[in-house]
Amino acid sequence: MKYIVVNTYEELSNKAADLIAAQILVKPHCVLGLATGSSPVGTYKRLIADNAAGKIDFSTVTSVNLDEYVGLDGSNDQSYRYFMNTNLFDHVNIDKAKTFVPNGCAADLKAEGEAYDAMIRDLGGIDLQLLGIGLDGHIGFNEPDYYFTGPTHEVKLDESTIRANARFFQSEDEVPKTAITMGMQSIMQAKKVLLIANGAAKKAIIEKAFFGPIDPQVPASIL
Ligand code: F6R
Repeated sequence: MKYIVVNTYEELSNKAADLIAAQILVKPHCVLGLATGSSPVGTYKRLIADNAAGKIDFSTVTSVNLDEYVGLDGSNDQSYRYFMNTNLFDHVNIDKAKTFVPNGCAADLKAEGEAYDAMIRDLGGIDLQLLGIGLDGHIGFNEPDYYFTGPTHEVKLDESTIRANARFFQSEDEVPKTAITMGMQSIMQAKKVLLIANGAAKKAIIEKAFFGPIDPQVPASIL
């Protein structure tokens, strides 16, 4: 494991974008695991600029996203599909048909999870998985629990996650209470994982996750 400490959000975004760009250059037909949230916005901006400048080509890249709120479809501006389209996919030369986000509106979420994991396996696994980290240590939407959950599955969001994500909604009541998330299996099977954390508020959880015991109450500690 390698820790890279930088001083500004811009530096963090540039470094993360450099690592993702390197992945695409080394393996143009790669599978990128992508995340939403505020942390990767700057990274995506840099990748968009690199793509516009002809430095990286997304045309052969496949992407799989970590998670989606249950009940929000891609036309909802709070859905993670909408986030990915507006923050990255609409602005680079990726084939949208090769961008995957779990379907939070699937009638059978268990079957959706199984199909999502099978698809990742069929793609040959994830070459580089980008992660943020929640204040409670969640990665994807894998919340603190008594065990690490393997497959893509439905989760009940913690109060702290609902509160943290309320900033993107009109009110806390509008934040969905459940989500579908990639589990620890696909994340841990990724050939490389790049976790980015920004700001002083994340300091305590980074220390706990990476310098404390491996504990499902701190999901990121599995890394
Ligand atoms: C998003 C995701 C979440 C976020 C985490 C941090 O797809 O899976 O785990 O990475 O909630 O969010 P921000 O970056 O907004 O602090």
